[in-house]
Amino acid sequence: MNLRRTLLVAGLAVTVSGAAFAQAWPTRPITLVVPFAAGGPTDVVARTLGASMSKTLGQTVVIENKLGAGGTVAASYVSKATPDGYTFFIHHNGMATSTALYRKLAYNPLTDFEFVSQAVDVPMTLLARKNFPANNFQEFAAYVKANKDKINLANAGLGAVSQLCGMLLENALGVKMTAVPFQGTAPAMNALLGGQVDILCDQTTQTIPQIKAGSVKFYGVTTKNRIKALPDAPTLHEQGLKDFEVVVWHGIYAPKGTPKPVIDRMNAAVRSALKDPDVMKRMADLGAEIAPDSKLSPEGLQTWLKSEIDKWGPIIRSTGTFAD
Ligand code: MLT
Repeated sequence: MNLRRTLLVAGLAVTVSGAAFAQAWPTRPITLVVPFAAGGPTDVVARTLGASMSKTLGQTVVIENKLGAGGTVAASYVSKATPDGYTFFIHHNGMATSTALYRKLAYNPLTDFEFVSQAVDVPMTLLARKNFPANNFQEFAAYVKANKDKINLANAGLGAVSQLCGMLLENALGVKMTAVPFQGTAPAMNALLGGQVDILCDQTTQTIPQIKAGSVKFYGVTTKNRIKALPDAPTLHEQGLKDFEVVVWHGIYAPKGTPKPVIDRMNAAVRSALKDPDVMKRMADLGAEIAPDSKLSPEGLQTWLKSEIDKWGPIIRSTGTFAD
């Protein structure tokens, strides 16, 4: 009998002594799996929350970057991990969009995980390399339409929000560019800064420092309304891409079978991190908004994920983009 099975069989005992188990937990470091490269936007959120949660939980939250296939390698890994309260997972919209982008997934996002909480909502920004020959969004749209065959669009793989944003942009402009996948938008940003790729749509948690430093061309934000962290930046919607909207939401999960008392304590640790003044300031500086209370319960995340699968499925299928 493998360890996971043993734990599942032992589930009854865990339930009976659930309170005692939760009180003792955690007795060793906890792993928070990040599905993209270190230094990128998802990693920044994970490390900021993890540092605060380590204080609340009295054990270090160790970040493990498990890369590949737009986040699906990490999701598959966590879905099969031992549900002992020491492995958690942070992922964004990709948890929903991958169900439409991949013909076959090695996990079911709705049934193979326990739901802990949502965390933050993050706008995206449309960027190009610094010497890209377009100085505003109108010039960008015209240049891309005229030169689509020559233009590279960086992303973090099928299932990444950079891919989702790029695909929606292509659809809105009626063009198809050459996708260049990386294992996260941290390496994609390096390629943009080095001029090896032309365009990147990425979360403000990574892009605001580059925008403020002027090291990239910046054409607008992907929210319906302007954002506090970049008040002068126009939205793509107001510049003519009517109703264009991508907001990145981040959820925290555990392998199915993780004891409920542990999920509840982890949920409390996430909520407490989101009220930590250091976390709040860093998130605000990076354009991220703390998720509303209604999304912070395990049930809130589960309901939200289901609604996102229902929302993105038809949109993605209409583009004909998928992988086996
Ligand atoms: C994405 O494009 O999904 C993310 O920005 C990837 C990342 O965190 O690197």
